[in-house]
Amino acid sequence: MDNTTMPGSSLPEDSSPDADKKGFLPCVSRRQFLFMGAAAASLIALERVIPGRILYAQSATFERQRIASLSDLEEGVPVTFNYPYDHPSALNNLIKLGAPAGGGIGPDNDIVAFNTVCPHMGFPLNGTYKPDHQMMGPCGWHLSTYDLTRHGIIVSGHATQGLPQITLELEGDDIYATGVQALIFGFNDNEQAPTDG
Ligand code: FES
Repeated sequence: MDNTTMPGSSLPEDSSPDADKKGFLPCVSRRQFLFMGAAAASLIALERVIPGRILYAQSATFERQRIASLSDLEEGVPVTFNYPYDHPSALNNLIKLGAPAGGGIGPDNDIVAFNTVCPHMGFPLNGTYKPDHQMMGPCGWHLSTYDLTRHGIIVSGHATQGLPQITLELEGDDIYATGVQALIFGFNDNEQAPTDG
């Protein structure tokens, strides 16, 4: 006799081979099951590309460089600066967005900086900032547009990666650039100083 069935229970008795595991199996919906399968497949594919390695976004730290004064910034008006090299591909915009942003500094966490070379094929994005939407772009070649409140992720267009974000520090009224959070277009390695320019 099965003593595990509660008196008055309306559930039919389970005579399947997994009946003894009842209560231990998590309840997974079809949607969750498909998602879990896709995630597992992605990890396996990644492991095949670079066995034994987990990939992280490339991030490089450089000597910090003073780039602006907090008191001089105007909301929605980009300040252009070169970092970490005096090179056309290392041209960046420092912008007070007027909305909190990932990686933002300042009293309102809304001051960010991004490289302005489109990571797709290198179109210059300097001058394309849209203050009403805190977006950079659209790119003049393939219309990629980037959300500067969310670490420069691509929101439309052909690019497959976001804009490299410049990490910032605030010390008193001084704003410093301290690093670059993704590969700059045209570089094999951010830390390898360009020989042209
Ligand atoms: S170069 Fe910018 S989307 Fe292609």
